[in-house]
Amino acid sequence: MRPRRLRSSSAVRELVAENHVRSSDLIYPIFVREGLSSPREIESMPGVFQHSEASLLVEIDEVLALGIRSVMLFAIPEHRDEVGSEALNENGILARSVRAVKERVGDRLVVIADLCLDEFTSHGHCGVLCSSGDVDNDLTLMKYSEMARVLGKAGADMLGLSGMMDNQVAAVRESLDQAGLQDVAILAYAAKYASAFYGPFRDAVESQLTGDRRGYQQDPRNRKEAAREVLLDIEQGADIVMVKPALSYLDIVSDIASLSNVPVAAYVVSGEYAMVELAASVGLIDRDRSIFEILHSVKRSGASLICTYWAKDYARRDHIGN
Ligand code: PBG
Repeated sequence: MRPRRLRSSSAVRELVAENHVRSSDLIYPIFVREGLSSPREIESMPGVFQHSEASLLVEIDEVLALGIRSVMLFAIPEHRDEVGSEALNENGILARSVRAVKERVGDRLVVIADLCLDEFTSHGHCGVLCSSGDVDNDLTLMKYSEMARVLGKAGADMLGLSGMMDNQVAAVRESLDQAGLQDVAILAYAAKYASAFYGPFRDAVESQLTGDRRGYQQDPRNRKEAAREVLLDIEQGADIVMVKPALSYLDIVSDIASLSNVPVAAYVVSGEYAMVELAASVGLIDRDRSIFEILHSVKRSGASLICTYWAKDYARRDHIGN
């Protein structure tokens, strides 16, 4: 037997390739910051910007032209408080951005709005705090329920539930249905680990967090717990389940892909992006090939959708192959 026969030319490699990442598999995260007059590059994420409300729309046009079919919107408000009030403001920066983007693109792009309080709270946690300083799960669910209605009414096609509160999918689903928003889908960050790889994201959203999120995000040592979280979210009505981060958790992606009966996504997070960008910028690794390899590793592990800051870069070269 000579397995090398099937590797002998680029044509034959293309012919027998088992996995393909298409531009339409990618979800592109975009940051919009209230009060900015022009886009500002995020220092820890070279090539990624905080957008102004005007430059957001330019970015959206570019994304569409590249064949990407979905964006995930994160907003940074000018004012934060203890309970994240701006998240529930129907004229707040996130709702406004969702509305503006939907008006521009109609059904050509799936607009996912991040549903979490961390960008809106002065303490940077994903929910409201009780007197002990812990995040109050059920009080937070009430906020998420209201935020879901605000974002749904603004026109979001899908909500990205990234807070890791227990029963958040059920609470949001019920709230949407009661408001006549049955068609708004839920992308559940079903298995989300407490990770150091979110570091640069905190910079991107100017997070005020002190301490960590280990009281609500998952312990990196656990595997079975991810299955439990995902099954709970599917039972509660998640339309898509996501694993996050991606690279140190490909075993989880693989597990979830085999047990889920809804589409599985994985999020290649800010720290994973930054590691490659920095190593490539000093010539230690080949950037394009690293991106190609990483995105295919996620696909190969079983995720059909990939949320990545490289979406535009990859889409530009999509037709080139390996
Ligand atoms: C929380 C949220 C985070 C990320 C996406 N949504 C940060 C966190 O949980 O601490 C991280 C994404 C990334 O690192 O790229 N709303």
